[in-house]
Amino acid sequence: MLVTRRIPSSVLSRLEAVCEVDVNDSPGLAPADLRSRLQGKAGLVCVLTDRIDEDLLESVQELKVVSNIAVGYDNIDVPAAKSRGVIVTNTPDVLTEATAELTWALILAAARRIGEGERLVRSGRWKGWALDFMLGTELRGKQLGVIGRGRIGRAVAARASAFGMTAVLAKTDMSIDELLVSSDVVSIHTSLRPETRHLIDRKALARMKRSAILVNTARGPVVDEEALAWALKERLIAAAALDVYEREPIVHEELLGLENVVLVPHLGSATRETRTAMIDLAVSNVLAVVQGRPPITPV
Ligand code: DGY
Repeated sequence: MLVTRRIPSSVLSRLEAVCEVDVNDSPGLAPADLRSRLQGKAGLVCVLTDRIDEDLLESVQELKVVSNIAVGYDNIDVPAAKSRGVIVTNTPDVLTEATAELTWALILAAARRIGEGERLVRSGRWKGWALDFMLGTELRGKQLGVIGRGRIGRAVAARASAFGMTAVLAKTDMSIDELLVSSDVVSIHTSLRPETRHLIDRKALARMKRSAILVNTARGPVVDEEALAWALKERLIAAAALDVYEREPIVHEELLGLENVVLVPHLGSATRETRTAMIDLAVSNVLAVVQGRPPITPV
């Protein structure tokens, strides 16, 4: 078994009780190292920054299972794995609450200009309280449009009433276009697929309200970052908040210079509780397959 990142010893010992385990101790694994260390292994526990493409799968004949410690699996060529009889698993459910909570943190941060305010205070340039100073926007009475009807999208929508907002789901309550035109906050929770790449482009952004906020905690390439920078600069939308980026860890240079976008480093599932549960589920999946049982959460 190859595990591409260090995992808690309590979880690692569950694997070691059943098979020989090769754990990569460094923060990353270059493609060539991944390929050579995967030779002769039956299972792989990996993370979303490991690219499991057709070429790699072709080079490893013994591999039976790829267990991704993530709910998203756009880093894995799933059809190529399936055609070689390699089972792919992910970690749904366990990260739903953490990601929904981060989404609300970003909605609130964008609406109330938290990033901008924090930068001002730290820079020592804050001049003190004023009646018209750094006014944000209130959420009560507004519409939250959720694109993506999966667990996370629904969990985000379920929290809307706590802030007095009405939640609408794209393709359930209205079309994506109707949602873009009528929502005060648009939150993205769809997976990255060919048809969702750049779903939010210049045209989509131009359809949104000038007062609207866009939030993306799903996958970076769902939003065209160049188009978003343009829309924010031209004030076609009021603000945005991003947890994910097109070329992580690189962030579009223009976005870095804008005050009306909150930028955080892919933290959706980053709580101790959730990461522990994700690792645990990924290991349970890989163990199930090597022990001849059905995986718990196959893709
Ligand atoms: C996922 O699981 O897909 C998140 O992006 C990282 O936790």
